[in-house]
Amino acid sequence: MITEGKAKINVAPQKIVSKKMEVFYNPVMELNRTSSVLVLNALGRKGVQLGLPLEGSGIRGIRLLKELKKGIIKTISFNDYDSKAVKKIKENLKLNKLEKDKRVEIFKKDATLFLLESFGFDYIDIDPFGTPNPFLDAALKRIARDGILAATATDTAPLSGTYPEACMRKYWALPQLDETMHETGIRILIRKVQLIGAQYDKALTPLFSFSKDHYMRVYFLCEKGKERVDEMMTKHGMLGKAGPLWLGQLWDSQLARKMMKASPSEHASFFKTIAEESEIATLGFLSIPSLCAKLKIECPKEHLIVDAIRKKGYQCAKTHFKENSLRTTMKEEDVLNLIKKLNR
Ligand SMILES: C[S@@+](CC[C@H](N)C(=O)[O-])C[C@H]1O[C@@H](n2cnc3c(N)ncnc32)[C@H](O)[C@@H]1O
Repeated sequence: MITEGKAKINVAPQKIVSKKMEVFYNPVMELNRTSSVLVLNALGRKGVQLGLPLEGSGIRGIRLLKELKKGIIKTISFNDYDSKAVKKIKENLKLNKLEKDKRVEIFKKDATLFLLESFGFDYIDIDPFGTPNPFLDAALKRIARDGILAATATDTAPLSGTYPEACMRKYWALPQLDETMHETGIRILIRKVQLIGAQYDKALTPLFSFSKDHYMRVYFLCEKGKERVDEMMTKHGMLGKAGPLWLGQLWDSQLARKMMKASPSEHASFFKTIAEESEIATLGFLSIPSLCAKLKIECPKEHLIVDAIRKKGYQCAKTHFKENSLRTTMKEEDVLNLIKKLNR
C-alpha cells in the first residue's frame, strides 16, 4: 500500500519502474501529480469535466477527487486500454471509498478512441510513456473552449538535443544540447502542441511549465479563434540555432504564485523558484559556473550576485531549469562585469 497526497493505492512493489510493470506507478511522478492538484485548485473553476485517457493505477484521478476543493469536479473519467490497469483503478477507487462517487466514470479504450468518442472535456491530462504526440490530435479536438490541456513528455533526450534527428522527426524543430537545453526543449514541445491545436483554430497558451527529473510538463489554456491562433503563431521563432520554438510566456505568474502558496512543504522551494522566475520574461538564463569559468575566477555566492543585479534595477531570480543559474533582464556582458567586481 502506498500513500501519496491524500490517496492510498495498492500497487505491486517493483524494483525498477518501467513500461513492463503489471500496472504502472512511478513514485518519482508524485510532484507531477501534485502540480495537477495545484493548477486546478489555483484556477478555482467550478463544475469541471476531467478526462484522464492514460490513467494507469488511478492515482492521479484519486488524488484529484480527494484534494481538489469542493465543487471543482463535475465529472472525472478514468481510462486505460489495459484490463489490469482498469481492474486496479476500480480496486484503488474502492480503497479510497470512492467507488460509489457519482462523478466517476471508468473506460477501457484506446486513449484516442476514448477522447474521440467523448463529448469533450474541460481538462485533459496526457500522461504517456515517452512522447505525447500520438494523443495530441484527439486531445486537441476534444478539449473544450477555455479548457486546460496538460501534457507530459518523458522523451527528453530528443527534446533537449541528444538526438537532434529524432527531435526534427517528432517535434519539427532543432534542439540545442547546451546549458539551456531543458528550456529550449520545453519551448519546442510547446510549439508542437500549439501547431496541432492551430489546425482546429485553437490557441494554446502555456499557464505553467516545468522540467524535472526525466520529464517535461506543460499546462495550456485553450482558447478558440483564428485571431488568437494567428497571434500565437507570431511568437514562434528561432532561439540561436534552436527552433523553431515558442518564444512567449512559460507561466502565468499570478497562477504560479497561487500554486506556490498552496504547495506542500516538501515542494515549497521548487514552486517558489518557479513563481519567482515566472515574473521575468526572458528567453534562457545564465549559468554562474560557466560565467565564472569564462572569467577564470572563483564564483561569488549566488545570493550576492542576485542582490547586486537587483540593486542595479534589473530583475533577477534563480531558474528551476538548472542549478546555480539565473534568469535576469541584465545583459550577459554586464553580469560578467558585475561578477568581476564582486570577486575583487
Ligand atoms: C505513464 S502511464 C500513466 C501514469 C499515470 N497517469 C500516473 O500518474 O500514474 C501510461 C499509461 O497509459 C496506458 N496506455 C498506453 N498507451 C495507451 C493507449 N494507446 N490507450 C490507452 N491507454 C494507454 C498504459 O497502460 C499506462 O497505464
